[in-house]
Amino acid sequence: MTIEELVRKAGQMIKENSPHEVSNKAGRANFVTEWDVKIQQFLISGLSALYPDATFFGEEETAGNTHKIGHRCFFIDPIDGTTNYIFGYNHSCVSVGMSLNGEMVSGYVYNPFTDELYTAERGKGAYLNGRRLTIANAGLEEGIASFGCAGYNEDNIDVLFSVCKELYLRSLSLREGGSAALDLCRVASGANVVYVEMKLQPYDYAASSVIVEEAGGVIGQVENGGITLDRPCSILAGTPQAVEQVKEICRRYLH
Ligand code: IPD
Ligand code: CA
Ligand code: CA
Repeated sequence: MTIEELVRKAGQMIKENSPHEVSNKAGRANFVTEWDVKIQQFLISGLSALYPDATFFGEEETAGNTHKIGHRCFFIDPIDGTTNYIFGYNHSCVSVGMSLNGEMVSGYVYNPFTDELYTAERGKGAYLNGRRLTIANAGLEEGIASFGCAGYNEDNIDVLFSVCKELYLRSLSLREGGSAALDLCRVASGANVVYVEMKLQPYDYAASSVIVEEAGGVIGQVENGGITLDRPCSILAGTPQAVEQVKEICRRYLH
């Protein structure tokens, strides 16, 4: 079985099963269901069979998830958009990214509700169901802006909502989709001109980061610096032009 086939199968597990066991992890509205755990276990066991040398950095505490970034590491979010899943929003995905020697080299993000599989390999382009993705360098004024925020993370929440007011005023429309991985893939497809969130974990953005970059987009932190793989960071992704515009907005509210 290939990584793509594993990710598609994992997505079917989301689509075909409703959650029955919902519990809260640390913080407000930080949910985990039995399917977050089962899907991560399924992915770790399938990926270990394909790549016996792999280490795993996944969201849930399951066997094999060491959080250690070895020579080859898989970053796994078994369900990105767990709150959407619990409330039947039908907007969640499986996200699997692979790094080699600390650099992200491939990403797979699958939304089973729309049957959309985003894939990218470093140097080989980004694809949505096999169709090559190339973003136009649109400005903030020309597209839909998107952002994310979680109840369990109120870091910089005032800054974020001030930035969001400007995004609302300057873009064509503003969205909060509830799945950072999918919102980032929508930057790659051109549906979103920009995406911003003040704190995300590596497994939220690792896979999508390759997809965004291979589509011609930019991804990094809201101020400066690239994404981090060993710890959380802020995320600003979009067209090169929109990212510069939103960096300037963020700078004004952060200082
Ligand atoms: C969350 C989603 C959400 C984002 C949060 C993430 P989860 O992941 O990606 O869109 O705003 O910060 O934690 O908990 O559904 O895997
Ligand atoms: Ca997530
Ligand atoms: Ca998750």
